[in-house]
Amino acid sequence: MWVPQQLPEIAGPLKKAGLELSPEQLADLTGDPMGAVVSLGGCTASFVSPQGLVVTNHHCAYGAIQLNSTLDNNLIDVGFNAATMGDEVSAGPTSRIYALDSIEDVTDQVRAAIAAAPDALARTEALENLEKQLIARCEAEDGYRCRLYSFAGGNTYRLFRNLEIKDVRLVYAPPGSIGNYGGEIDNWMWPRHTGDFAFYRAYVGKDGKPAAYDKDNVPYQPRHWLKLADRPLGEGDFVMVAGYPGSTSRYALAADFDHTANWAYPVVGGHFKNLVALVEAEGRRNPEVEVKYANTIRGWQNAMKNYDGQLEGFRRIGAANTKRKDEAATLAWLRRQGPKGQAALEAHAQLEALGELARQHRERDLIFGQLRNTGVLGAASQLYRLSIEREKPDAQRESGYQDRDLPSFEGSLRQMERRYEPGMDRQLQAYWLREYIKLPADQRIAAVDAWLGGNDAAAIEAALDRLAGTELTDNAKRIALFKADRDVFEASKDPAVQFAVATMPTVLQLEKEAKLRAGDALVARPVYLQAVADYKRSQGGFVYPDANSSLRITFGNVTGYTKTAGSEQVPFTRLEEVAAKATGEEPFNAPQPLLDAIQAKRYGGLADPELGTVPVNFLSNLDITGGNSGSPVLDARGKLVGLAFDGNWESVSSNWVFDPVMTRMISVDQRYMRWIMQEVFPAPNLLQEMDVAAP
Ligand code: ARG
Repeated sequence: MWVPQQLPEIAGPLKKAGLELSPEQLADLTGDPMGAVVSLGGCTASFVSPQGLVVTNHHCAYGAIQLNSTLDNNLIDVGFNAATMGDEVSAGPTSRIYALDSIEDVTDQVRAAIAAAPDALARTEALENLEKQLIARCEAEDGYRCRLYSFAGGNTYRLFRNLEIKDVRLVYAPPGSIGNYGGEIDNWMWPRHTGDFAFYRAYVGKDGKPAAYDKDNVPYQPRHWLKLADRPLGEGDFVMVAGYPGSTSRYALAADFDHTANWAYPVVGGHFKNLVALVEAEGRRNPEVEVKYANTIRGWQNAMKNYDGQLEGFRRIGAANTKRKDEAATLAWLRRQGPKGQAALEAHAQLEALGELARQHRERDLIFGQLRNTGVLGAASQLYRLSIEREKPDAQRESGYQDRDLPSFEGSLRQMERRYEPGMDRQLQAYWLREYIKLPADQRIAAVDAWLGGNDAAAIEAALDRLAGTELTDNAKRIALFKADRDVFEASKDPAVQFAVATMPTVLQLEKEAKLRAGDALVARPVYLQAVADYKRSQGGFVYPDANSSLRITFGNVTGYTKTAGSEQVPFTRLEEVAAKATGEEPFNAPQPLLDAIQAKRYGGLADPELGTVPVNFLSNLDITGGNSGSPVLDARGKLVGLAFDGNWESVSSNWVFDPVMTRMISVDQRYMRWIMQEVFPAPNLLQEMDVAAP
């Protein structure tokens, strides 16, 4: 996960792996091909036509597909295929496409501001204030969105400026029986046969500038777009990915690792399992719930399975031991430096203490956090907070509540009705309240106790009955509160609003405590992580910072692997295996036209010369994580050979301890995409737009 600034450093290894483009060409981040890569905020995508056509994963477009679904026209099942541009539908008011404009190193300025602050709280505030100033300056011109990223625990700070495209439309999504073939059973698994791709289009105002959805907007014309590969991809070939990996914890302390492996993953994963079971049961009684919570459930399922995979991986590779040994080696090396190593040793001790402090009330923080952020209580809390923040000048508001954040805030509020159902919400509240009353006395929150007025099932039922009187279940009433003043909330008789008002002082207090800890970490973490990097370099290693949602580059080759039990995995899956796996039952309900085309060997000119059939998914040894989903996979000449969409089960533990032997990226081959769009769920207009001549 190299940062683009490291391209000169990795030029040799890139060439050696097979890159034919010059590394200098890649270093031009707004040029060809890198300029075609965009972020969706949480997923990655790329432009593939001069008319703003964007390709990403089906699972990245899933939220947009769900928002446009109804019981009678469930696009998750039937897919979506806009006949003309006029038929393309909004991907939702919070959908965004971010195209990189520039990156500025602001390390000196940020570090000076932190150093000048007198104490921990002031340090956090100094950073927050400077961040707001930098962003305000960076966003002065309309249509841009900026973000400050901290690298390597605060050793480097970079300000990214992106064009923010706000009118995103859904163009094409295959039926779920292709786009999500294998569903949760195959999620994180190999061999894989998923057509995990979908298309969006970026729209802008008639003046070419970003604008909110308007039917008169026009397609955005990017300066660069990717071209589909014109040479067959094969085993051993060079591949690279540019994308936006969310987060990794490879430089975390051993104690933080232990907390995650022994507490966070098992506990949070356990809750997600329970929530999935609750919502699925209700979905079977009430199909409306199934459609409305499809996206929510999918997120829980993906995370809980990921946690299980990580835990299994940790055991397989002895991760806890490795972490402790690595840390001990770093500390021993620092001790050998004498006085020079002292600061880093102290920083390490301080980070350990801060971690412990943060974990002291972890049960409370988890449960209270979930309770006050779910459904109607979540809406009430956020709206009330907005009214508080709005009393301050824009520049002093908490991030998330500034003017620049309000369009998305309002968008989520508006789309809530498509992801919410009062009866289901009540069950979720009940779940978290039942968890809450199990908390020991020292983890209780006085405001919640008072609101609940008891400590048993009867008190919970009574509280939920009171809460059922809320008017915030009504979309119009919720939206009306978007502009309401603070005293409206504080005088409100609405039970959800009253919960928000009663718990807000606690929320603010907990936030302040977190800022205090963050202020100490702002000084300690860069010192310690610099020492870790120095130690690694002294051992002859390359060092790159943990993923932080900013643009990264990863490269390697197409290659299979050997599973723990010894079975050899070839790097490509084939069309015939899609049919072999079909059972007719979800999630292996491959559509009949697809099965017919396979049966008739209608390869449409897309068969691989070596495989003798159309490749479906492929493996490579690239290093990605959540957020990379949808990333374009480029060949040696920068042509699009596929889209990254998953990692194998054995790779997920690499978020903490990288395992090069087992870690594989799973991509959908562009030839399978084309085959689906040619032979199964035809979109000749899009193929033509991507300038793909029928073979
Ligand atoms: N596991 C993938 C990831 O988080 C998401 C795959 C989505 N597919 C699915 N069946 N849930 O990178």
